[in-house]
Amino acid sequence: MLGSLKYTRAQHEDMIAETAAYFAETERLPNLAYTSDAFLELERLTVFARDWMFAGRASQIPETGDILPVTVAGHDLILIRQRDGSVGVFHNVCPHRGARLVEEPRRGEAMLTCAYHAWSFGLDGAPRMRPHFYRGGQHETNPSAKGMCGLAAVRSHQWIDFIYVNIGGDADPFETWMKPVLDALEPYDFRDITYVRTIDYDLACNWKLAMENFWDTYHIFSAHPAVEKQMPMEDRDNAVTRGKIIIGGYDYPAKPDDNYVGRKFGMPTHGGDQDYIRNRSWFICCYPSNMLQVWEDALVMVEMRPVSADRTTEHFHFYLVGDGATADEFADQRDAVIGFMDNFQREDMDIVRWMQSGRGSVAYGGGDLSAFWDPQVVAFSRLVTESIQKS
Ligand code: FES
Ligand SMILES: [Fe+2]
Repeated sequence: MLGSLKYTRAQHEDMIAETAAYFAETERLPNLAYTSDAFLELERLTVFARDWMFAGRASQIPETGDILPVTVAGHDLILIRQRDGSVGVFHNVCPHRGARLVEEPRRGEAMLTCAYHAWSFGLDGAPRMRPHFYRGGQHETNPSAKGMCGLAAVRSHQWIDFIYVNIGGDADPFETWMKPVLDALEPYDFRDITYVRTIDYDLACNWKLAMENFWDTYHIFSAHPAVEKQMPMEDRDNAVTRGKIIIGGYDYPAKPDDNYVGRKFGMPTHGGDQDYIRNRSWFICCYPSNMLQVWEDALVMVEMRPVSADRTTEHFHFYLVGDGATADEFADQRDAVIGFMDNFQREDMDIVRWMQSGRGSVAYGGGDLSAFWDPQVVAFSRLVTESIQKS
């Protein structure tokens, strides 16, 4: 949790100026972007507030009146399943004296009542009642007519099971931001997927290093033997940057040879265009801090939560297809598919810790990069530099 603001506007402006100058000279981010809690606070106000962020799973609140409190990059929000079936998102703060409204998930509520002075709100955030507002016994029963604001709404969008929020409210439309992903995944039919489980990881690194490692195809041969075994390094393409999306992936051999095993878990695969879907994986970074892994038999939403400058929690939400998600007959394969991705992730935990260490070294300032494998580092650094400058 980031808590309240600790740094002054002048400190933020110093960091913005230093970062912009450093990027202009080097096309890298300075070390302070990875080591300074003041920089993380600045990102909370800019990077994370300006763009679309994953906030929660719609299937966590299946019924009308289900309410889920979440924290997105330090912003406390609530997701509410509304009467029309959509999910509404609001800041988790009472407009009266600022009390937090919801601490724990709730089920089937008809409305939301603040525990402090019992002001109540509809599931759509509209104000309903202000008891004893004018004096004892004199209630305000129609606050909307008096111009009272309801809960502060947050711009949101649902895609598949994922609820995204744009806290600042002025990001490009969701479809514009996600167009490279929507185009790449258009042949998939995700209607048959079911959420299976979430695995949480505690990473000793800045959130940006976990992002940078996620699209790094270069290290597969040296750090991920099981993934390398699915296909040879020589056949891998690198990720590319499309707007605010860094997208990569590969087609592993349809007819595996002795050296390369392909995927072969024997699980149900996504609906849609099988020629396109089978034997293909995607690794997608959605700026600023969400990732998607798409396999023929799985979809994984990866959520990054910055805790401090040098600590990040990462949450892998696993979805599998059809009976693969639930049936006993697929229990072993289910564990194998998730175990494969879990191993993949655990193999990276030391790597990102080592990278964090590097950002504390006076001998390092962003790196001597490979022209083939590393252009996304520059693109990502540019996105961060631009985001913090727009204040
Ligand atoms: S703070 Fe919520 S009703 Fe007063
Ligand atoms: Fe890795």
